Amino acid sequence: MEYSVKSGDLSKQRAACVVVGVFSRRLLSPEGKFIDKLSNGYLTRRLKNGDVMGEIGQSLMLHEVPGIRADRVLLIGGGRQKDFTPARLKKAVAAAIGLLNSGPVVEAVFCLSGFEPANHGLYGTLRDVVTAAEDRVYRFDELKSDPEAPKRPLRRLTFFLSDRRQLTTAERAIAHGKAIGQGVSLAKTLGNLPGNICTPSYLADQAKKLGRRSRKLRTKVLEEAQMQELGMGALLSVSRGSRQPAKLIVMEYRGGKANNKPVVIIGKGLTFDAGGISLKPAAAMDEMKYDMCGGASVLGVVSACIELELPINLVGIVPSSENLPDGDANKPGDIVTSMSGQTIEVLNTDAEGRLILCDALTYSERFEPAAVIDIATLTGACVVALGKHASGLFSDDDALAEEILAAGTKSGDRAWRLPLWEDYQNQLDSNFADMANIGGSGAGAVTAACFLWRFAKKFKWAHLDIAGAAWDTGKEKGATGRPVALLVQFLLKRCGISSL
Ligand code: BES
Ligand code: MN
Ligand code: ZN
Repeated sequence: MEYSVKSGDLSKQRAACVVVGVFSRRLLSPEGKFIDKLSNGYLTRRLKNGDVMGEIGQSLMLHEVPGIRADRVLLIGGGRQKDFTPARLKKAVAAAIGLLNSGPVVEAVFCLSGFEPANHGLYGTLRDVVTAAEDRVYRFDELKSDPEAPKRPLRRLTFFLSDRRQLTTAERAIAHGKAIGQGVSLAKTLGNLPGNICTPSYLADQAKKLGRRSRKLRTKVLEEAQMQELGMGALLSVSRGSRQPAKLIVMEYRGGKANNKPVVIIGKGLTFDAGGISLKPAAAMDEMKYDMCGGASVLGVVSACIELELPINLVGIVPSSENLPDGDANKPGDIVTSMSGQTIEVLNTDAEGRLILCDALTYSERFEPAAVIDIATLTGACVVALGKHASGLFSDDDALAEEILAAGTKSGDRAWRLPLWEDYQNQLDSNFADMANIGGSGAGAVTAACFLWRFAKKFKWAHLDIAGAAWDTGKEKGATGRPVALLVQFLLKRCGISSL
């Protein structure tokens, strides 16, 4: 979608459709009131008729509204004004975009003054509108032979500003929203692609493709032989059970000063998790194609960084493998040696994410990171604890944890902190190795984080368990692209260029 901004006289604005907000109890936004006046109370009469009440998600398309030059006016409901939140804004916008996208209108003018959530500002509002629009028009139909695409899709949104001085802020909000939206879309598509297409090699190729988009980005891909030399025995033990070779994807983005320490983000890139010899049950096993969504989010964030040319140094790392049963696969009881030298008893081959991540964590030491964040669809236990609305956040660094939580709140891509305490560590005791790869019953998401913690002692570190957040199930099955929005907000804030 294309976006632009305009200010001036709304009454002279030619457009196929003008979109204005209305809150419950028929409360029109300032621009709504303006159009109402131009049309001699046409909107008020529709509202009085009860055609639209201003409830959240409600909308009403009006044709041939007198006194204006636009062909249509779309009223979108925002619910009660005092309860208006960014989440509701996105919901209202998604409803409007859905309607417009399926109709004949290809360009629309959004009038959003007075349709701003409290303390969200023009920047936050427009950025959210853009990300919500990108989210709504996203489609994944490249594998259908005859996709049902909208006949006349919406192509352009113009934001009508009441004040010319808002122009630069608006343009920045649009640029940021678009970059986030595109990063989210990339993460969604990689997630939605099936395991027979999106293999470790495919992910590596996509990362190389990103590398060709910017001179600031260098992508390198470590092959199994190189991982062997580095002593990545944990990661390689997982890929031994698969015919697809493992890849360690390393994307170095240099946008900041040469001596600035980079932020490292590490995403689990398990392109299909059958569980290995500890095979998963058949029901919904197809969803384990989504076990690379952490890795996909890293590519999405790197894409946004390139797009915005962020003045920051960032390293994106994606350890990628499949986890399948095979004659050469890990067996329960096997003991492997990680790159850190610590030995691990693999009591359950389905706890493979931590095995590939621990070597990637050790590998990241070489970048002398300012902070490391890993992102992983790590545990079913996290889904039990938090469901799909929040990613689980674990960190022993309170300042870093607060920074991530704030980025989640501001972007609407929220995380919730769970305990990372030494008390849980003895659940990982093993009689035969330095640790086991599972923590027994109780607090499965916490013990998984505790496992990773043992490999993250040399830098500031946080772990995001996105097992619940990364994809939707049921009728609306599909990747969500989370937590790209959280992470980009985190980086924008670190660069000092987010107004949120
Ligand atoms: N990829 C899964 C975690 C997962 C399961 C995410 C379901 C989303 C939905 C991970 O590799 C896994 O299998 N974890 C095990 C760990 C257990 C064996 C300690 C789990 O959660 O069951
Ligand atoms: Mn698993
Ligand atoms: Zn897994």
